[in-house]
Amino acid sequence: MISSYQLKDIKDIIDLGLELNPKFKELFNISKLPKYENIIVYREKNKLIGFLHYLNNIDYIEIINLIVLKEKRNKNIASFLINNLLKNFNKKIVLEVRESNISAINLYKKFNFSTISIRKNYYGNESGIVMERNKDIYILGIESSCDETSVSIVKNGNTDIATTVLTQIDTHVNYGGVVPEIASRMHTENFTLVLEDLFNKTTLELEDMDAIAVTYAPGLLGSLLVGLEFAKTLSFVYKKPLIKVHHIAGHIYSNNLNEPMEFPLLALIVSGGHTELVLMEDDYKFNVLGSTLDDAIGEVYDKVAKVLDLSYPGGPSIEKCALEGNDTYKLPIVMNNDELNFSFSGLKSAVINLVHNEKQKENTINKNDLAISFQKAAIDQLIRKTRLAIEKTDSKRLIIAGGVSANKFLRAEMEKLAEEKNIKLSIPEVKYCTDNATMIAAAAYPLFFKKEFSNYNINAESSKRLY
Ligand code: KG4
Ligand code: ZN
Repeated sequence: MISSYQLKDIKDIIDLGLELNPKFKELFNISKLPKYENIIVYREKNKLIGFLHYLNNIDYIEIINLIVLKEKRNKNIASFLINNLLKNFNKKIVLEVRESNISAINLYKKFNFSTISIRKNYYGNESGIVMERNKDIYILGIESSCDETSVSIVKNGNTDIATTVLTQIDTHVNYGGVVPEIASRMHTENFTLVLEDLFNKTTLELEDMDAIAVTYAPGLLGSLLVGLEFAKTLSFVYKKPLIKVHHIAGHIYSNNLNEPMEFPLLALIVSGGHTELVLMEDDYKFNVLGSTLDDAIGEVYDKVAKVLDLSYPGGPSIEKCALEGNDTYKLPIVMNNDELNFSFSGLKSAVINLVHNEKQKENTINKNDLAISFQKAAIDQLIRKTRLAIEKTDSKRLIIAGGVSANKFLRAEMEKLAEEKNIKLSIPEVKYCTDNATMIAAAAYPLFFKKEFSNYNINAESSKRLY
């Protein structure tokens, strides 16, 4: 059981401290602790097992002692005490530890402490290691570029604390695609509801946020504007910096929710509006190696689905049909060359013509077979070009981003390619591949540190490019 210390703990605390340091009693006068000092104690059946003694300064915490009874070590009690401190204070924390105390150093590393300096021979012939842990950064993400109304809280750019996504698919499916006017109206109705739902999932409050991040481009103008106004209002009322995020940066940075992206890396972006191979040398440094000369892959998935009378959105519908089909239709192999650009219009036209011709001849089409033949041809091109880009750039890391990366066949083929090329592959979890605000908050994190904050005069841009 964890609590603050009481006067009756004093003797036990001193006894425990003396085990570690014979001068503990002189160093530490508990009967006169000033206000900014405190001790969190851990008891089992009223027996004192461990304690954490800290200084609560205005802008940071200093851990002075963290001691656990010898026979109770390795039982996560130290972690319990540290967690309790983290729960109560979101501040920078500093401490010093003897260089020989490897288990303590490793424990602090587990809690994201890092070494900032070494006090040479501070303990006679032993040095002291000074470690620091920065305060956690919480960013509220807001996304409404198409037909998902979403809000999310992300910690330190990589941890999804809570996310709410409200999709409008059930409405738009009746029209065979997103109706922009309906989409923006529904965002207006839904934003406060998703925000309320989000904060019901966490003990955090809007005041705890360090910034408000919002998708400002690209997407449906009316839908983007609703999200942008919502974000501006929250930023103004709660006095939090506003960060504008490009939707495609969001898709890319959803990979940080797996593990931190290491640079340089090769990124394959496959979405409704993008199909690109990009070399990233660092955060927000994009070097486009190749892009589509005509349609984006997601767009083609959607058009092919429409021709086959499959429901919106096309990507998941084709993927589902393909699972039941056999690859029997002969479709053209496009862009079989040494370029890193893509082209999908030839493949799209081939499918459309095939369907029309068969219809004219009053032949039935096996939708499942055509779905798998199309999917194989389209993804084969992605794999070929990605392989080529790995070879040309000698890349060691590959990430995939965008709505189409939810496709299981693409994911499996990419895994095979990564194995073939002995390259580290990162693909976001499926729930982060489709539109969500988690990725927007994750993408805002590097911008937060660059202090790239926005004014209230920023506008939504329907077709602005990231690079
Ligand atoms: O990345 P995204 O949200 O679009 C843009 O931001 O532009 O992705 C939407 C696209 C749509 O074209 C949709 O059909 C496709 O991603 N998509 C898929 C799958 N899920 C979504 N395509 C293939 N297989 C899927 N499972
Ligand atoms: Zn998207």
